[in-house]
Amino acid sequence: MRTKKTLLPINKLVIDGIAQKGKGVGRTDDGQVVFVQGAIPGDVVDVTILKKRRRHLEGRIKTLHKESPDRIEPKCTHFGICGGCSWQQMSYEAQLKHKQKEVNDALSRIGDVDVNEYAPIIGCSDTFAYRNKMEFSFSARRWLTFEEINGDNKVEDKTALGFHIPGMWDKIVDIEHCHIQPEFPNEIRNAVKAYARKENLSFFDARDKEGFLRTLMIRSTQLGEIMVVFQFFHEDVEAREGLLNHLVDQFPNITSLQYIINEKANDSIYDQDLHCFKGSNYITEHIGKLQFRITPKAFYQTNPVQAEVLYAKALELAAIDTSAVVYDLYTGLGTIAQYIAHRCKKVVGVESVPDAVVAAKENARRNGINNAVFEVGDMRKVFKDGFVKKHGSPDLIIVDPPRDGMHKDVIEQLLKVKSPKILYISCNPSTQARDLAILKTQYIVEISQAVDMFPHTQHVENIVLLKCKS
Ligand SMILES: C[S@@+](CC[C@H](N)C(=O)[O-])C[C@H]1O[C@@H](n2cnc3c(N)ncnc32)[C@H](O)[C@@H]1O
Repeated sequence: MRTKKTLLPINKLVIDGIAQKGKGVGRTDDGQVVFVQGAIPGDVVDVTILKKRRRHLEGRIKTLHKESPDRIEPKCTHFGICGGCSWQQMSYEAQLKHKQKEVNDALSRIGDVDVNEYAPIIGCSDTFAYRNKMEFSFSARRWLTFEEINGDNKVEDKTALGFHIPGMWDKIVDIEHCHIQPEFPNEIRNAVKAYARKENLSFFDARDKEGFLRTLMIRSTQLGEIMVVFQFFHEDVEAREGLLNHLVDQFPNITSLQYIINEKANDSIYDQDLHCFKGSNYITEHIGKLQFRITPKAFYQTNPVQAEVLYAKALELAAIDTSAVVYDLYTGLGTIAQYIAHRCKKVVGVESVPDAVVAAKENARRNGINNAVFEVGDMRKVFKDGFVKKHGSPDLIIVDPPRDGMHKDVIEQLLKVKSPKILYISCNPSTQARDLAILKTQYIVEISQAVDMFPHTQHVENIVLLKCKS
């Protein structure tokens, strides 16, 4: 019979770097690389090893012998269990230092690109209550603490409304207070949970695929507007109306209350119909004088204050004049396109989510912008020779793709179009570096400017300005 090999703990490991997902990393005397959940550079720890991977070991802190000078007390009681924040135990100054290093390392190691200038990372002025969008999952299988499992009292209520535990697809940690979102969405989430428990509404069981309440998305804006979107696994008119009416009574200032009946296996809302229960089907955000209507399926930067900082920096780096033709590829709600419109002759946005493009066009019209046009579709199919013929040769191309970066065909087309400048904005320096490794055949990387949009997580945004060699 095969027995599971016990992995021996590792003692007095010096953590000297950051690995995937923000984990601390150290090296044993015999050269084994160890990723440690919750550890940060400067810590010395004994490690319980949980997994052996091909090139490294993974574990968690057993004993913290020496604390890094960058350690601080986490603000959140859920920290360490919840998958949302990975770095609340690290000073913000140190977080910025590691984010800067991550960007620089990715560009030099993965992309092997020569960067003329690495500008110092721009941090956030507000490091808490910055996030305008939260997606919570209902679960009939709450993650239980060690004390709950081993205590004398039987756990009666196993329901939860919160976030996934990292690496456990069916376990949800019940969130009482999330410090990276504003106060009001916290109150809404807790009121929903209290009502659902009181009325015995069933919470979703991801294993058995049953239960009524599935997900809850709450979005807020700096203009004080609130959007709440529920996903129910099946229709139950009485239960649904009871819950939604309760919410309307408790929070009359919710701007948009919507729901989806999603009977599919996954939670993605992109192929689902939305039903508006109360108010409008959008909420409104602003960047300076520009206003943007945000619909549930459309992307909007999750840190609105820092989004403005990001866009201002991008515009400054672009250094265009009013005769410029600009492409804003992966435009979302057309925010960058509209931000830049008054500084150029014409801007063309491309986005794959149809709802977002409809909203982008309406936003532009309401903002009095008449030199911005938008096309809907997959970049790979839309960004062809005909596109350039139709809209004119660009003086600047802005690309802001999702975490996966750009498809190879899109990069090939960028090389073919030979725009004098490209501004590559990315929320994933690894895929950005991979794409730059191809673009560098034709482009010089003038400047890399990291901007922190996501305090207390390992994520970072990076703008790169590319100049065409010929
Ligand atoms: C990181 S967001 C950037 C949005 C916008 N630039 C902003 O600052 O709000 C990436 C956008 O690309 C869109 N997208 C993803 N894949 C795409 C594709 N293959 N073709 C076109 N758009 C795509 C997403 O829907 C999303 O709106």
